[in-house]
Amino acid sequence: MNKQIKSIKSFSEQHKLSISKIHPLTKGDFETYRIHEILRTSDLSGLSILDVGCGTGRVTSHLISSNPSSIHCIDPSITEEDFEKNLNRDITNFSGTLKFTRASALDFNSEKKFDLIFIIGVLHHIPENINALRNLSKSLSPSGKFVIWVYSKEIGHVNRAFLQLSRFIFPYLGFFRIPFTKLLRILMVLIGKFLSPSSEIRILVDKDKDESILALYDQLNAGYAKYYSKQDVLNEARDAGLRVFSILPTGRKGWTITYGLN
Ligand SMILES: C[S@@+](CC[C@H](N)C(=O)[O-])C[C@H]1O[C@@H](n2cnc3c(N)ncnc32)[C@H](O)[C@@H]1O
Repeated sequence: MNKQIKSIKSFSEQHKLSISKIHPLTKGDFETYRIHEILRTSDLSGLSILDVGCGTGRVTSHLISSNPSSIHCIDPSITEEDFEKNLNRDITNFSGTLKFTRASALDFNSEKKFDLIFIIGVLHHIPENINALRNLSKSLSPSGKFVIWVYSKEIGHVNRAFLQLSRFIFPYLGFFRIPFTKLLRILMVLIGKFLSPSSEIRILVDKDKDESILALYDQLNAGYAKYYSKQDVLNEARDAGLRVFSILPTGRKGWTITYGLN
């Protein structure tokens, strides 16, 4: 199966589980991604936003609270109905417009230009990531910004090898995928207690329980995942014809990046 199809298929199955409902705490706190250091919530008021790879509803939910004028959500692996289930939120008090399109970052196009394009936890699951950025750039307003979060190589060799191995097993676990993830997390927390605070194993389970179950599930389930070094981030910007505004490490797990048009 082609990598792109495999990646989308893995998330299609995940979204049908309504995993955000199983773990209702997954609120996508922007502090996790240090986004509050780049943008204040009040800065989003009145802006038009594109939320790329919105499937879990986590980022969308946080954006709704920030009162932008519009949020257009896109994801190829989920139906509008399942997205609403994942979003799991009453939006009657939201004064802006909220729209969902089942589309990929690779072929989405829009007459409208967006002030901000959020791509949180998504680009590393797209094998043709440069093409995705080039395509989305056409929908960014000239003074607009991409706000992106991607996996970091600094998660470590052992974790990467372990996750890669688990990804082979995971698709065969069927209904046992969620119990397996929960059990694995418990084991990792227990083992981590005997290791130094900087040990790799602790990186994957360092957040609160429900957040780390979803994060671990995402890592284990993804049909395709890329891990970035800081240099990879800079190279990607150059190849996509974008300007880097900022690169912030989020622990050893990822990078929060802002790009703009050249
Ligand atoms: C780990 S989830 C992140 C979801 C959400 N942004 C969040 O932070 O909770 C990755 C999402 O990327 C989506 N995705 C995968 N390939 C994509 C593509 N080519 N275009 C847009 N979204 C894609 C998946 O369907 C999935 O919903």
